[in-house]
This record gives sequence, structure tokens and C-alpha cells, in this order.
Amino acid sequence: MNVVILAAGQGKRMRSARPKVLHLLAGKPLLAHVLDAARSAVGESGRICVVYGHGGEEVPAALSRAEVIWVKQEPQLGTGHAVLQAMPHLDPTRRTLVLYGDVPLTRVETLNRLIAESGDAALALLTVCLDDAHGYGRIVRADDGTVLRIVEDKDASEKERAIAEVNTGILVAPTGRLAAWLPTLGRNNAQGEYYLTDIVALAAAEKLAVRSVHPADTWEVQGVNSKSQLAALERVRQGCLAQQLMDEGVQLADPARIDVRGELVCGRDVFIDINCLFEGRVELSDGVVIGPNCLIKDCSVGEDSRIAAFSHIDSANIGPACRIGPYARLRPGTELGQDVHIGNFVEVKNSSIADHSKANHLSYVGDSEVGSRVNIGAGTITCNYDGTNKHRTVIEDDVFIGSDTQLVAPVTVGRGATLGAGTTLTSNAPPDSLTVSRAKQVTVPGWKRPVKKA
Ligand code: UD1
Ligand code: CA
Repeated sequence: MNVVILAAGQGKRMRSARPKVLHLLAGKPLLAHVLDAARSAVGESGRICVVYGHGGEEVPAALSRAEVIWVKQEPQLGTGHAVLQAMPHLDPTRRTLVLYGDVPLTRVETLNRLIAESGDAALALLTVCLDDAHGYGRIVRADDGTVLRIVEDKDASEKERAIAEVNTGILVAPTGRLAAWLPTLGRNNAQGEYYLTDIVALAAAEKLAVRSVHPADTWEVQGVNSKSQLAALERVRQGCLAQQLMDEGVQLADPARIDVRGELVCGRDVFIDINCLFEGRVELSDGVVIGPNCLIKDCSVGEDSRIAAFSHIDSANIGPACRIGPYARLRPGTELGQDVHIGNFVEVKNSSIADHSKANHLSYVGDSEVGSRVNIGAGTITCNYDGTNKHRTVIEDDVFIGSDTQLVAPVTVGRGATLGAGTTLTSNAPPDSLTVSRAKQVTVPGWKRPVKKA
């Protein structure tokens, strides 16, 4: 199979500097959705051609994939003209599937039905009946149901405008016939464009079978022309993803309040509370519980770990049986072992924290290596940045760090050491000892507070 994806249009109604097909749906450009569906439908041996134009090289640059043939259409003289530009790149011995770069949610099974329907020689159209067909090309049939032609909305008579069955634009055609038809198209129509849809009348005139297939759901053929249509399809996509997760056994507090912009892979008995956003690739192992309002990106979470409300996690690996949050922030390069506790208003960056260690309140752990069974007291800060360079902090096993401590890196706290509360550690703390840097406490007896001057 050949595939031609039409993506040269401007998308004026998006009111955006970004080419329409690069707008994101579920975290992925519209055109990438179409490319993925096309690849699934036609397999590795299929030839995929994308016709681009508006937005220039930004489109191929954003989706640089080796296996796609990029064809520039300039100027854009209509859908027939667009497919014509791709013809030299197609395999004439195989059929051609035409898709739109701004119609992102067509099911692969629908495309497969359309391909099957086209057989060896027929023209197969994906059509749908709409309550409001305004703006679409209408499918004109003979009394016996034979498809005769497609008439564009702007060219249609009043009687034709009453037809509910519309052209989705998605079709499969025999490539040899396509090559013969396209150069003969005229542009003597209401829009002065070369209409791809005019090939239907040509096929009918040549007594070639014109067949039709309907999608299971209308949203499969809905395009994105505006921000509100984009938002509507985003909801459709998120609804499908939520349904898929529930079918796999994931418990969602509310399937309408989860957003997945990437790939979310879940084990058994995972529970996800409301308003969570998952980005990139996230893996949740068996028994993981995610509290409400969490943002989790490119992360793996080990068995039975719990992430409490309002936590923000980006590029971290969390071991099993951990307790994270509420209000925790794990930044890139965080590696947590087993049974690690990261509490409220604790930020961890580019650091490893080994089994059974805890930082429960108000701390910053950056560029650090923390051993097992370490307790990091409230308000502990690793001072990893001297204004120019970042330095590492090493905290060995079984260390106890008192509250409000600053560790001025590079510095090492030896195994089993204790740091007294309020310490500013500027050189290494030896193992199994108490280190404290704190001004001696003094009391001034009878001291009086100043009084306000009259
Ligand atoms: C087209 C169909 C219409 C169908 C409708 C479905 C034609 C003549 N009409 O109309 O029957 O009901 O889609 O949405 O085909 N494009 C190019 N180059 C061009 C023109 C368009 O690549 O020169 C691309 C656009 O980026 C878009 C697609 O083709 O992805 C459809 O173009 P659009 O202008 O939206 O076609 P419609 O007028 O909506
Ligand atoms: Ca359109």
C-alpha cells in the first residue's frame, strides 16, 4: 500500500503561528497520530508520503522520521493538486490510501475495513451521515444506491445540500487510475481548486466500482480546524485512554478527570485519584496508589508505592513501598530505593536515596548520594551550588541529620554520624560521631525589650 497524507493546508481558524498539523493532541502532534495509524494499517512495507506546504520546513523538521517521504506542495491548489504532487513517489502496482493530517483519531480497524473494501480495483470511500452536513462534500448516489459523484458544499444545489451522507476525504484508490485521473482534473468550480473528489465521477463514468465504508464513531473522521475542535477531540481521546486503562484493571476515581499525554503502563490493582496528569512514559507497578492532583512525567514507580496529593514528579525512578508527598517535588535524576519517604515540600534533584531513608519535611536534596536508613531532618538543605559549579554531597548509611542543617558541598557525612540541629557543615563529618556547628546558647538575665519612644 501507498499512503498519501494531506497536510499542506494553512488552518487559518486555528489562529496560530504553528502549522495546524503540529498542534498537540494527547501530547502528540496531530500529524504523528495520522502517521502512526497509517503505519499500523499498511505495515512496514507501505510507502508513506506526506504532502506539506503551509508552515514550510517546520513540519518535516518537527517529525523527522526516516521512513516518511516528504513532498512539498506550493502553491496549494486543492486536494487533487496535493495528491498529484505525491504521484511520482508512489508504487504504481499498489493501491493508495489518502488521509488528512488534521484528522487524528481514525481507528486502524476502520482503515483496514476501507482497504479491504477497495479490493483490487475499486474506489473505496469512507463516508458518514451527519445531522449537520454543512461544509462537507456530499455523496451523490443513483436511485439504486450506486455512488455517482461527490459535490462540494459550495458547488451543491439546494437539493444536494439536503444529502446527509458526506465525504470524510479518506479513500483508497487504485494508483494507476489515480495517475490517469489527476492530471485531467479542472478547477472550474466555486473555489477554483483542483478537487480530489472529482475522481469519483470519473471512476463512475469508467464503470469502476465505487464502494463506501462507515466509521464506527463519527469522531474517527472529525478534523481539527479550530481550537475548540481540538479540545473536543482531546476529550474524546482521553475518554478512550481512560476506558482502555479501566479495561486493563486500573481503578480510576473518575475517568473524566485523568489526562494521559504519552504512555501510561500499569500493573495490577493500581488506583489513580482525580485530576492526575501523566506525560511521557510512566510505569506504575502493582498496587501503586496515586493521590489527587499529581503531575507525573517519565517516571517508574515500584510496587505498592504511594504518591500523595499534589506531588510533581519528573524523570525519577521510585522503588517499591515508597511514600511520596503530599506536595513532594522529584526532579530529573532522582533514584529512590525501597521504602523511601519523601514528605511535604521536599525537593530532590539528581540524587539517589537508598532503602528505608526519610526526608519528611521542607528539605532540598540536590546532587547527592544518600545511603540507607538515613534520616534527613526538617529544613535540611544541600548547598550544592557555589554560584559557578555544582558539587556533590555524600551521606553514608545510618546517618541522622538534625533539623535546619546546611551541607555545603562538596562534603561527606560518614556512616552512622549525627549532625546536630542547625549545623552548617563545611567539612566532612566523621563516622559514628556527633558533629555540630552552633553558637553557644547564652542567657542574659533580666534583659528588657526596648520600649517605643514617645
Ligand atoms: C475536503 C473535501 C470534502 C470533504 C472534506 C472533509 C475536497 C475537494 N473536498 O473539503 O469533500 O467533505 O474535505 O473534511 O477534497 N490540503 C492540502 N493541499 C491543498 C488543499 C488541502 O494538503 O491544496 C489538505 C488540508 O491541509 C486538509 C485536507 O487537505 O488536511 C482537506 O483540505 P480542506 O481545505 O480542509 O478541504 P475541505 O474544503 O474541508
Ligand atoms: Ca477541512
